[in-house]
Amino acid sequence: MSKTKVGIINVTGYAGVELARLLYQHPEVELASVTGRSAAGQRLGEVFPHLASLDLTIKAELSDVDLVFSAMPHRESAKEVIPFLNRGTRVVDISADFRLKDTAEYWHWYGFTHPAPQLLEQAVYGLTELYRSQVTYAQLVANPGCYPTGAILALAPVVKTGLIEPDIIIDSKSGVSGAGRTLTAQTHYSEANEDATAYALDGHRHLPEIIQELKLLSPEQLPSVTFVPHLIPMTRGILTTGYAPLASGTISIDKKGEEELRQLYRDFYKDEPFVKVVDFSPHTKHTQGNNLCLIHPTIDYRTGNLIVISCIDNLVKGAAGQAIQNMNLMLGLPEATGLQALSIYP
Ligand SMILES: NC(=O)c1ccc[n+]([C@@H]2O[C@H](COP(=O)([O-])OP(=O)(O)OC[C@H]3O[C@@H](n4cnc5c(N)ncnc54)[C@H](OP(=O)(O)O)[C@@H]3O)[C@@H](O)[C@H]2O)c1
Repeated sequence: MSKTKVGIINVTGYAGVELARLLYQHPEVELASVTGRSAAGQRLGEVFPHLASLDLTIKAELSDVDLVFSAMPHRESAKEVIPFLNRGTRVVDISADFRLKDTAEYWHWYGFTHPAPQLLEQAVYGLTELYRSQVTYAQLVANPGCYPTGAILALAPVVKTGLIEPDIIIDSKSGVSGAGRTLTAQTHYSEANEDATAYALDGHRHLPEIIQELKLLSPEQLPSVTFVPHLIPMTRGILTTGYAPLASGTISIDKKGEEELRQLYRDFYKDEPFVKVVDFSPHTKHTQGNNLCLIHPTIDYRTGNLIVISCIDNLVKGAAGQAIQNMNLMLGLPEATGLQALSIYP
């Protein structure tokens, strides 16, 4: 039987090139077409020598495929995928263009008027752990942002069960590839190396996405969220630490309560192929190159606060791997197909 043909719009960015690497190992689909503005006409292996085994020429336009991944920057992505959607092609969009349900948020956070507000209702937020059945039948999947993936997975079990007070602090540290391949002064080697900084203190673009999804998990108790992202000198990975007061009377603030808390997380994620609740403080290296999210929930006995730590690879579970997880569901394939690689160590 012939394989499903898929294509990547914008293979020349980090998310797009990681998709190409992962799709090469996928047994059920064929990467048939890729685009890239700055490299149109060149062989993929010339531009990215680590992909030399992929026999493809980068084009200016995507050829006809059964499913399209867009790894375009926000604002540009919607324009690219709308014609495919109009032709009935299924799309996984890795950009932010279809993640938010409220059109006004696009103006506020991204500075543009959304070109197709009607598609925001139709788009399914592609966090498979929360929206599996909707993803299966979706024509358009909005792949979650990298920070929201780590933060929402870390907090969903306690937000949904009302185990915490709705006063949440999310502290995330990202490797520099999270900022993309386009060079800026902040991501220049001599600026980012041996440096660490908090940024977007007046509000990061991923904040409305995190709030939107946590609110949907707990509509009766709207969470207040403080989110502070940090840039740290590593290539890949996001380490997120979430803090919130445990709601009084829900769980004992001791070892027994902590074991109950961990069991609640294990039960919540018991059938999830890519979320592992672990008994140790995870490192970003434990998820480097694979599609896992590791989560370690604990209790601070002195303050009665929940402390929950999560780790992902921003380019895999935070982008390309999660996009393939969504594609697998959309094509009726086992969810973990092509995504079982272990992480790289050391
Ligand atoms: N990096 C991550 O960890 C991550 C995680 C989740 C989601 N995402 C999302 O994935 C998308 C791609 O991100 P990325 O990190 O891969 O970005 P990136 O590495 O910075 O890639 C952006 C590429 O897009 C192309 N580009 C820029 N402006 C363009 C335009 N106006 N028209 C056409 N092409 C344009 C450029 O390629 P040319 O030089 O070939 O024009 C550039 O190399 C973004 O929407 C981002 O938010 C990224």
